[in-house]
Amino acid sequence: MTAERPYFITTPIYYVNDQPHLGHAYTTVACDVLARFMRLDGRKVRFLTGTDEHGQKVQRSAEAAGISPQEFTDRVSGSFREMGRLLNISNDDYIRTTEERHIRGVQALWQELERRGEIYIGRFAGWYSVRDEAFYDESELVDGPNGRKIAPSGAEVEWLEEENYFFRLSAWQERLLAWYEAHPDAIAPRSRRNEVLSFVKGGLNDLSISRTSFSWGIPVPGNPEHVIYVWLDALANYITALGYPDVNDPDFAAFWPAELHMVGKDILRFHTVYWHAFLMAAGLEPPRRVFAHGWWTVEGQKMSKSLGNFIPPKELVDRYGLDPLRYFLLRELPFGSDGDFSKRAMIGRLNGDLANDYGNLAQRVLAMINRNCSAAVPEPGAFTDADKRLLGDAGGLLERVRALVTEQSFHLALETVWRVVGDANRYVDEQAPWALRRTDPARMGTVLYVLAETLRHLGILTQPFMPDASGKLLDQLGVPAEERDFAALAEPLPPGRRLPAPQGVFPRYVEADAAANG
Ligand code: MSP
Repeated sequence: MTAERPYFITTPIYYVNDQPHLGHAYTTVACDVLARFMRLDGRKVRFLTGTDEHGQKVQRSAEAAGISPQEFTDRVSGSFREMGRLLNISNDDYIRTTEERHIRGVQALWQELERRGEIYIGRFAGWYSVRDEAFYDESELVDGPNGRKIAPSGAEVEWLEEENYFFRLSAWQERLLAWYEAHPDAIAPRSRRNEVLSFVKGGLNDLSISRTSFSWGIPVPGNPEHVIYVWLDALANYITALGYPDVNDPDFAAFWPAELHMVGKDILRFHTVYWHAFLMAAGLEPPRRVFAHGWWTVEGQKMSKSLGNFIPPKELVDRYGLDPLRYFLLRELPFGSDGDFSKRAMIGRLNGDLANDYGNLAQRVLAMINRNCSAAVPEPGAFTDADKRLLGDAGGLLERVRALVTEQSFHLALETVWRVVGDANRYVDEQAPWALRRTDPARMGTVLYVLAETLRHLGILTQPFMPDASGKLLDQLGVPAEERDFAALAEPLPPGRRLPAPQGVFPRYVEADAAANG
């Protein structure tokens, strides 16, 4: 078991030129599930998120809003913090790139790269996309309308000619390839890893890492006419939050290299080519793993400003409830693939997996215990084969789920848990405890005990995905707060505990207008 290593997990830091939407919520919830899972599994966790506040794009957005960049970033950074509260995100730290600790760390990283001869001054002439804050090679571009050139991301590029500082990225090609080779699991999923490998094998150009045509950024040490390229600035958040440049800081010593940087597929190159080269060039270890998840469309369409279909997370939480949303996001798609967010699919999961399967199971079992067992966990008699089978399936879940969550296969982890939900529902039907009430009350007690114990496993294991709903279920099973971590699964549920009156955990979703009509 790898349970001892501290677990440092990060979201990308979000650009403050947009309000939070479904895409941001997705990355953040996925990280939250991992952070909560690892804490419950006994690991020391540090979970970092934050906002990326410098760059030309932000400067332009602030100008358009008629306020200073600082005022603008304060406002939008606040709305990302709020998104965290709304989604019940358990981050331990929140970094803003406009904070002093970050600015100091980035400048120190710059100086370290300079000291090691990795930076030189030159002249840049090429294509730049402000939307992506990225440089593109002529060969990557296609012709757009009005004679504009378009990057592979769909963003317009503009021609840029400036005196810039450069990072000697080209010199790192072989060392990067050797590192990827030695760390086969460091970029996931596999198809994305192959993309990165072929990009690097295709050859690397030196990277322009400063800009002079705008000022909203971190000044280059010793030459404040230049601001540091926003991606060098932003990527460094992962170490400045741990106290870099003080590599003896206890946080840095404990948590670097990060266990996982979670990113969307669009920003994988920055996180596996530039970032790894910067780190190695500064004498630091690259992160252990970078996972690139896919993108959501909404009702079959790309989310875009022009379509106005960016869904604010609050709208979804208000409509479907937080935990159903969290469940849906991680259950619906194989993690790593693209997928579609549709109302139909969301309601299908909510009413099917949650209300009918899981919620109903809990409701039936708790109501029967309440009515027939003096509202206390019954004392079991000898277990039959069927009892042992269900207890064994529930008892074996932790190990299987841990293996899947560790490799970010959230959908398979949930599918595995729901297989036991299905087994438990079939067991209730087969054992028919309601009929045993008169014929064999002792056997009824055993059956309800087996079910309560199964529910306890389900409740504990679903906590990272649905913290509130699972908490409510565990309250109703009388499980005290200190017995909700994964270690508690090794001990059986003690009989005799008194249980509160049962309450539904997952109400069915009824469409408001449908209900009104009929
Ligand atoms: N600021 C950079 C990251 C710097 S990290 C050192 C950035 N920010 S972002 O706000 O544009 O995007 C943050 C994340 O949201 C990315 O991981 C991106 O993939 C994700 N998503 C944005 N739209 C998305 C969807 N439609 N679907 C899923 N995730 C999407 O990039």
